[in-house]
Amino acid sequence: MTDDKLEGVPTAGSRNEPAGPTPTVTLAKVYEKQGFLDKAASVYKELIIAEPDRAELKDALEAIEKRLAGSTPQPEKSKTKTTLDHLLGWRNAIRERKKMLDQKNEKSRRILVIHGPNLGMLGRREPSMYGSSTIEEIDAEIKKAAHECGMRADTFQSNHEGILIEKIYEALNGYDALIINPAAYTHTSIAIRDALLMLDIPIIEVHLSNIHRRESFRHKSMIADVATAQVVGFGKDGYTMAVRAVANLKKKEVL
Ligand code: DQA
Repeated sequence: MTDDKLEGVPTAGSRNEPAGPTPTVTLAKVYEKQGFLDKAASVYKELIIAEPDRAELKDALEAIEKRLAGSTPQPEKSKTKTTLDHLLGWRNAIRERKKMLDQKNEKSRRILVIHGPNLGMLGRREPSMYGSSTIEEIDAEIKKAAHECGMRADTFQSNHEGILIEKIYEALNGYDALIINPAAYTHTSIAIRDALLMLDIPIIEVHLSNIHRRESFRHKSMIADVATAQVVGFGKDGYTMAVRAVANLKKKEVL
C-alpha cells in the first residue's frame, strides 16, 4: 500500500472491480484524493440519498461537481444534478406518504381486548375447560392476528369489576371495536352491561368455553343483547376469530 492509496479501494480501470464497496465519506475522500472525481461524486450521492439531512455531504458533492465542471462538458453536470434532485424528491415523497399512512392506521384501526377475572390464570386454571395457553400467549396471538389484518390490538386483563368498567370507558376514545370476555362477570354484572351501552362501536363477546352447554347459571349473559356478536366454545381461537370478523366488518364499512 502506498501513501495515497488505501488497501481494498478499487482503482479506476482495474478489472474485476468489486460490485460496490460500501459508500462512506472515507471512501469518497480516497477517490477524490486519487483523482477519481466521478467515483467520489457517486459515493456522495449514495450517502446523500441515505442521509439527506447532512448538509456537509451536499457541500462536498457540490465542490466535486465544480471541479468536474472544469473537465466535463456543462450539460453533463446539470443532467447529473437533475437526476439527484429527482431521487431526493421521490425519497421525501415516499417518506411523507408512509408517515401519513402510519398515522392513519394508528388512528383508525384499533381494537381493545378485555379479559375479566381469573383469565390471567389461563394455562393453570382448569386446562381441560379453558386450554393450556397462558394469557400472554393468547394476547400475542390476538396481536398477531390484528397485525395481519392491518389493525392493532391492545389487550387488558383485570380481576376487578370497577377497573374493567374504567377500561371500557377507554374504548370510547380511539377504538374501532371492543372484544370482551367478562368471565364470571358475564353472568352477574349489570354495571359492565351499562358501561358497554355507552359504546357505539362493535362489541364482540368471547368465551373460551361454550357457556350454553355448561351450568344453567352460565347460560345467562348480561351483555349478550348489548354485544354485536358472540363467539363461544372455540377456546383461544375465539379471540382471533373475533379479530378477523372485526376486520371483515371494517372492509364492509360497517364500522
Ligand atoms: C368464561 C365462561 C365463564 O362462565 C367463566 O366464569 C369464565 C370463563 C369463558 O371464557 O368460557 O371465567 O368466560
